[in-house]
This record gives sequence, C-alpha cells and structure tokens, in this order.
Amino acid sequence: MKKLLTLTLVLTMILSLAGCGSTSSSSSSTASNSSASDTNASSDIKTVTEGTLTMGTNAYFPPYEYYEGDSIVGIDAEIAQAVADKLGLTLKIEDMEFDSIITAVTTGKVDIGLAGMTVTEDRKKNVNFSDSYATGVQAIIVKNDSPIKTADDLAKAGVIGVQLGTTGDIYCKDDFGEDHVDEYNKGNDAVMALVSGKVDAVVIDNEPAKSYVAANDGLKILDTEYVVEDYAAAISKDNDALKDAINKALSELKADGTLDKIIAKYIQAE
Ligand code: ARG
Repeated sequence: MKKLLTLTLVLTMILSLAGCGSTSSSSSSTASNSSASDTNASSDIKTVTEGTLTMGTNAYFPPYEYYEGDSIVGIDAEIAQAVADKLGLTLKIEDMEFDSIITAVTTGKVDIGLAGMTVTEDRKKNVNFSDSYATGVQAIIVKNDSPIKTADDLAKAGVIGVQLGTTGDIYCKDDFGEDHVDEYNKGNDAVMALVSGKVDAVVIDNEPAKSYVAANDGLKILDTEYVVEDYAAAISKDNDALKDAINKALSELKADGTLDKIIAKYIQAE
C-alpha cells in the first residue's frame, strides 16, 4: 500500500516535470521581473545581515547544490536566488557540514537552511519549515552484484554508509542499529566507501544517488524506495515574518512555473 502511494507520488512528479518543456531561460531572467510590483517589502523582514538573505547549505548534494568552479549552483541555489529577488534581498550562500545547518539557523548565523532538507518532526522542535518545494526519496545504492535487493535486505547488510545527520542516517540507525551504520561527512564519501568495499550499501536521497551512480562504475540504485519525504527551507522560530515572506514567494514561483522550470533544468524527466 505504502509502495503504491510512493509510486503514485513519483509518477505524479515525473508527469508534472515532463509537462514543463524547454528550460532555456535562466534564473537571471526571472530576476528582472520581480521588484517594485512585489508586495514583499524587504524592510519589514529582518535578516541576519540587513539587505541580505543568508542561506546555509552543504554544497555536495547534486543537483540541489554543488560547486561549478567557485560558485555554488543547483536547484536550491536557484530557488533561493528567485526568492531573494522577490524579497528585494541579495543572496549569500554559506557552505557548511549538513549537520551544522539547523544550528546555524537557530543561532542566527544564517537566515535559512536550504539543502534538500527533509521536514521531520524532530527538526521541527528546533526550526520552522517553509512550505515544501520538492519531494525527496531515500534511495539505496549497492554494487551491481550485491545480494541486497530490497529495503528489507538492508538488515542483512554488514554496514550501511550514510551522510552524517541526514534522514538516511537517522532511519538506518533506527531500523538496523548504530553498529550497522557508518556516517560520512559528505554523501560522496559514503559512496566512495561503497566502491572500495568498506560498506555494503549507501542510503541517500535519490537525485544525488543518480549522479553518484553515473559517476562511478559498477553501482546501481535499487528499484525500491526506502522513504518518501518533503524538502523545505528551515527558518528560525523567531522569524515568522521571514517564513511568511518565503512561503508567499514560493507560492508565486510555483504558480508562475518558475519552480518547475528550475527543477526541470536540473532533473531530466524519465
Ligand atoms: N534529505 C536529507 C535530509 O534532510 C539529506 C539532505 C542532505 N543535503 C545536503 N545538502 N547535503 O536529511
């Protein structure tokens, strides 16, 4: 039943992506038509640095955030840019360990955490989340000849590699016990551990999983989905004005197709 629901969700996502056609327009073109007409006056919104929207992320998570030369690009970077444009703010991106992002939000180092971050009840104790802007799936990567064929088979895995502090980490520790989970600072390090045989499987979000598998021979993603989740921006509990402004910007970006366009630019519909 859960599987069916998951499949429906994924299908809906793929179909909605397939519908958006060409992705040639860049985020800078969306920047020019925001401004005076937008009702979000940046002066009402308090940010860590005046006039700036500071975003905390972990930029080793393609296609949501990754380095292209010295700049951080990807779905989250472009969505943040489009939101900042609507709010009349300059975007600044700070790269940090994924595990530090929530603390950076709660201690006022950054205004938002935008990092393909899953909404969880536990995180909600510390931060507020914006409306969701994307669906994530925890996927399982194994070597081509692995005996692990389903999520249940993970119980037979000696060790599962995960990125520290991610939902993949949390779920695997819950389901299979800490002794069976190896935590890495970067998702890619977990994948390297799989390649070198230090771990038997990696549990990580589906989209980065695809790019890791494409970049390394001999790996595959299992057909089964481990968990389906919602991605959203983490915002301080003390800044409802910012949360409201971001939600308003996000719904405008959804309504005018910008969000779909950004996602389609980075994720090819199958
Ligand atoms: N969706 C997962 C989580 O929220 C993993 C996110 C990892 N993001 C990153 N930028 N490294 O826990």
